[in-house]
Amino acid sequence: MLSCRDLRKSYVTERGAVTAVDGIDLDVEAGRFAAIIGRSGSGKSSLMAMIGGLSRPSGGTVTVDGTDLWSLGDDGLAGFRNGRIGFVFQFASLLPTLRLVDNVALPAMLGGTAVDAAIYGKAATLLARLGLGGHLDAYPSEVSAGEQRRAAIARALINDPALLLADEPTSDLDEQTEIEIMDELLAVNREQGTTLLLVTHNLALAEQAEQIVHIAGGRIVA
Ligand SMILES: Nc1ncnc2c1ncn2[C@@H]1O[C@H](COP(=O)(O)OP(=O)(O)OP(=O)(O)O)[C@@H](O)[C@H]1O
Ligand SMILES: [Mg+2]
Repeated sequence: MLSCRDLRKSYVTERGAVTAVDGIDLDVEAGRFAAIIGRSGSGKSSLMAMIGGLSRPSGGTVTVDGTDLWSLGDDGLAGFRNGRIGFVFQFASLLPTLRLVDNVALPAMLGGTAVDAAIYGKAATLLARLGLGGHLDAYPSEVSAGEQRRAAIARALINDPALLLADEPTSDLDEQTEIEIMDELLAVNREQGTTLLLVTHNLALAEQAEQIVHIAGGRIVA
């Protein structure tokens, strides 16, 4: 369902070009749980951003469910990303001026197919499932970092994505919260058949994956 071919990313900085991803070939079958591991700076987030349709590759292709992502126009890409791909970022990413329930509902409102009441019902259900049923009307600044992360997961799930990308979704959280959040992500993978690509520094967690992708210096290493 996911395939990357000779994927590359370089950043142009004042000090010259930095190669973050240096020719990655990767295939992940539908419904799989794949873990991406590698040291800080190895290119994991850069790879995820290209797979998620957020950062244009310097070279190569990303194909998701048969669609060559980066050959789509801007509108096509935005629509595909919103409808098919869920992204949980490494850093806090909720909109601060919206309540949690609005943050979660937003991607579905952008899709414009379901009615508002149905969308808000689903947003509330997802938040409740993630233990935030009592915080629907809270603003991000009024809940903890772990709660914000769980709301971000609910937001990533609102459109029933085929592909769920999670970039260290539990990095700065305590062990128990990490276990709870991971249990939710794995449940979505198992119960809904959502393909899960997870960047993690937790090797015990990575070992639960059906596929481990080890990245060093922007390449896949054995
Ligand atoms: N916007 C940018 N401009 C310039 N260089 C960048 C940019 N983003 C990342 N890099 C560089 O690209 C390389 C890969 O960064 P990336 O964020 O993909 O690593 P990572 O594996 O996700 O690291 P971490 O585990 O710390 O999150 C690093 O050398 C980094 O400094
Ligand atoms: Mg990163």
